[in-house]
Amino acid sequence: MSTVKVYDYEEIAKHTTHDDVWVVINGKVYNVSSYIDEHPGGEEVILDCAGTDATEAFEDIGHSDEAHEILEKLFIGNLKGAKPVETKRAQSYSTQESSVNFPLIAVVVFLIAFGAYYYKTNF
Ligand code: HEM
Repeated sequence: MSTVKVYDYEEIAKHTTHDDVWVVINGKVYNVSSYIDEHPGGEEVILDCAGTDATEAFEDIGHSDEAHEILEKLFIGNLKGAKPVETKRAQSYSTQESSVNFPLIAVVVFLIAFGAYYYKTNF
């Protein structure tokens, strides 16, 4: 169980070249060296975030389930200090974010309605 390695950014940041490239995604460390030549998005985008947290870049593209499966094969360890439930948390976080929009929409609709009412009664 406890054989999973833990890396900190001091170590991760050393792996930034085409033949030795690590990235962090959702609190996990991946060695992408063997995959970088096959990456459909090109090597450049991966090298751009080599040795750093690539979570945003990776998630922004909306990578497929297949891409996530490939990623799991490249897993080499956990980021030091990262919570193991990082991915789940990120998911519930985004659900939370979208539900926050409902009251916001209600307020905007109310303001528009009030503005129209105010305009009608005063002009
Ligand atoms: C590090 C591990 C990564 C893996 C295993 C991976 C895997 C893949 C795979 C399998 C695809 C094909 C489409 C799909 O299945 O979603 C893809 C496409 C793509 N990836 Fe990644 N990717 C990684 C990182 C990144 C990063 C960090 C970026 C930064 C922006 C990126 C940008 C893209 C783009 C732009 C495409 C679309 C290419 C196209 O359709 O022309 N990828 N990736």
